[in-house]
Amino acid sequence: MKATGALLMSLALSACNAEDAPSTVDYSTVEVPVERISSNEARGRGRTLFSKKCALCHGERADGRGARREGLSGKPINFHNKEWRANTSPLSVFETLSEGKRGTSMPAWPTLSDEQKWDVVAYVLSVAEDGP
Ligand code: HEC
Repeated sequence: MKATGALLMSLALSACNAEDAPSTVDYSTVEVPVERISSNEARGRGRTLFSKKCALCHGERADGRGARREGLSGKPINFHNKEWRANTSPLSVFETLSEGKRGTSMPAWPTLSDEQKWDVVAYVLSVAEDGP
């Protein structure tokens, strides 16, 4: 009984936190630059950014095995995972990069421009098919 109360309380608290910092962007209206993200140039630029910003957690080979992967909240995604790839989309990755994932160690990237984010999107989505 007590445990249930605590669980409800923590659910209520996390709901409050979500409302404290509402996103100002409606991602469903963001236009996906389809041509850009299917180009090898964008993937190449994305790979370079990934090495600098993401590899620490997600691994140099984008396999989720970065040096810092231990002790994080959540497990860094392995971008080779075809099931992950099948269930995500360019827009969803763009939103993750813009907002981070609340309640996990996945941070937001306000220092990346939208163009840089799309380059990183192009890269991480290509890994499941083309490898790192
Ligand atoms: C401090 C460690 C850390 C860094 C740095 C980091 N990530 Fe993550 N990332 C995580 C963790 C942990 C998760 C799993 C979150 C969860 O449990 O849902 C994650 C999840 C993700 C997801 C999956 C979201 C979903 O649910 O589909 C994407 C995409 C992602 N990261 C991309 C990136 C990219 C691109 C970068 C570099 C710009 C990056 N991450 C940098 C830790 C990190």
